[in-house]
Amino acid sequence: MMLVSATEMINKAHEGHYAIAQFNINNMEWIKAILLGCEAKKSPVILGVSEGAAKYMCGYKNAVDMVKNIMDFYGITVPVAIHLDHGTYEGAKKAIEAGFTSVMFDGSHFPIEENIEKSKELIELAHSKGISIECEVGGIGGEEDGVISNGEVASPEECAEIAGLGVDFLAAGIGNIHGKYPADWKGLNFEVLEEIQNKTDGKPLVLHGGSGIPQEMVKKAITLGVSKVNVNTECQIVFADATKKYIEDGGIDKPKGYDPRKLLKPGADAIQGLVEDYVVNFFGSADKA
Ligand code: 13P
Repeated sequence: MMLVSATEMINKAHEGHYAIAQFNINNMEWIKAILLGCEAKKSPVILGVSEGAAKYMCGYKNAVDMVKNIMDFYGITVPVAIHLDHGTYEGAKKAIEAGFTSVMFDGSHFPIEENIEKSKELIELAHSKGISIECEVGGIGGEEDGVISNGEVASPEECAEIAGLGVDFLAAGIGNIHGKYPADWKGLNFEVLEEIQNKTDGKPLVLHGGSGIPQEMVKKAITLGVSKVNVNTECQIVFADATKKYIEDGGIDKPKGYDPRKLLKPGADAIQGLVEDYVVNFFGSADKA
């Protein structure tokens, strides 16, 4: 299966009231685990790559080539998109050139006029290449790759303006936060979510900060128009916990226990387990490939 744009999978999810997961990737172990998990559950998937992760993976082109080669090696049959996460204006252009099949332009920190102007240009560019594009209105709480936002709730009017430009899916802050949620978190703002969905004529919406949101809250957001949920931190936590356990249980001291193929396996298996659980129990995208 070739890499595909995310438009078709997201539109189908929006019509069918389920969501497609964007799992962020960091390296070969992440790509393998996520692809095998989604293949096992017959779920379409979006592989998210932040600009920092692209640099870590030796560039956009290498990220694309790694994903393509791993898909070929395992004979992956489910639809897979490779998507730039929180792209800058320049980064989005570079990712498109390198073969990404979907990009996000995050202009939420610009004044709305500038966000609209840059979004418009990138939407035209992406669509001229058959690539899907996500834009953002209003910040998302927490910190991601050094970008800190105060997590304001998006203005439904501004969302309507960006949606009207023809963006494929829209990220809008509704109280969601990247990283771990604080104990006193107030939860998602469903009233604003409904208003955004109404004002944007039912544009598929994206929920960032998918790690740690209670299952019922995610499901409710999906019924109100969220068709893409981004998960990053949760995969990092299960990988770190499983690796820690392997070491603490004396795994390294066993014969050849220091072999990276053994050392990294429990973490990779934990990511695959989480992916399978989420696509079945949170997002409803299993058997939708
Ligand atoms: P989490 O790291 O909180 O899961 O957020 C992921 C995300 O929204 C990527 O854009």
